[in-house]
Amino acid sequence: MSGTKKQLLLARDEAGFFKKAADLFLESIAFAIKERKQCTIALSGGSTPKKLFQLLTQPYYQTRIDWPKVFIFWGDERCVPPTHGDSNYRMAQETLLSKVNIPKKNIYRIAGEMASPQEGAKAYEQALHAFFKLDYAIPHFDLILLGLGNDGHTASLFPKTEALNEDKKWITANYVEKFSTHRITMTVPIINDARRVLFLVQGEKKAEILHEVLRDDRPIDRYPAQLVRPNDGDLIWLFDKPAASKLPKPLLHAAFHL
Ligand code: 6PG
Repeated sequence: MSGTKKQLLLARDEAGFFKKAADLFLESIAFAIKERKQCTIALSGGSTPKKLFQLLTQPYYQTRIDWPKVFIFWGDERCVPPTHGDSNYRMAQETLLSKVNIPKKNIYRIAGEMASPQEGAKAYEQALHAFFKLDYAIPHFDLILLGLGNDGHTASLFPKTEALNEDKKWITANYVEKFSTHRITMTVPIINDARRVLFLVQGEKKAEILHEVLRDDRPIDRYPAQLVRPNDGDLIWLFDKPAASKLPKPLLHAAFHL
């Protein structure tokens, strides 16, 4: 499964988009459990994953996912309590994790509520070191879900922010000017060591930025999302027709039409 180059998957509509996302989620889990008896997944935040999480609670997926062998992490979190409306943890907990038989001990929440965002980042990084039993080598998540913001950010790696240059820490606090607040985020190196990275880009509003990020006729790394280039894993861009509405013909031809 790993080591393939970038794949572009074009779903004809929203329903097809979320079905493919759920099928890829299921496939990643089955493969990881077969290979390594467990699966480690970092969820993305924002609103796009919500319908994916809801779909995963349907019987077809519930009966096929061995949740006790799945370990859930986050690619980023807002600096709010887990009960806050902006919390990525809360959204996943409410739409998915509270509805499937995943043991609570398998859920590794980022403590966004800590007084110091850097302390929160450090605590999460320590939890990852302990989980993966690694001191220095970077962990390989089986699947990292990522979204795409209209400014080309992903996780909480926003344009012109310090975290973009962080190449030592796995998790860092990142001050985001546009929100006048910190976020806690995975850094580029840990994302790029994943066995599979799946970008979920859905809807007309993402058409402009998706074209900007995927076009390769401009210097790359204009946008944080372009820094995501897995060293050895799969990179899958899953988008629907509305999100693809501004892609030029060569990119549409390069995409696999679902
Ligand atoms: C977050 C996310 C962020 C998100 C994008 C897209 O915490 O907000 O991790 O990177 O994935 O902003 O968000 P939407 O899916 O809501 O468009």
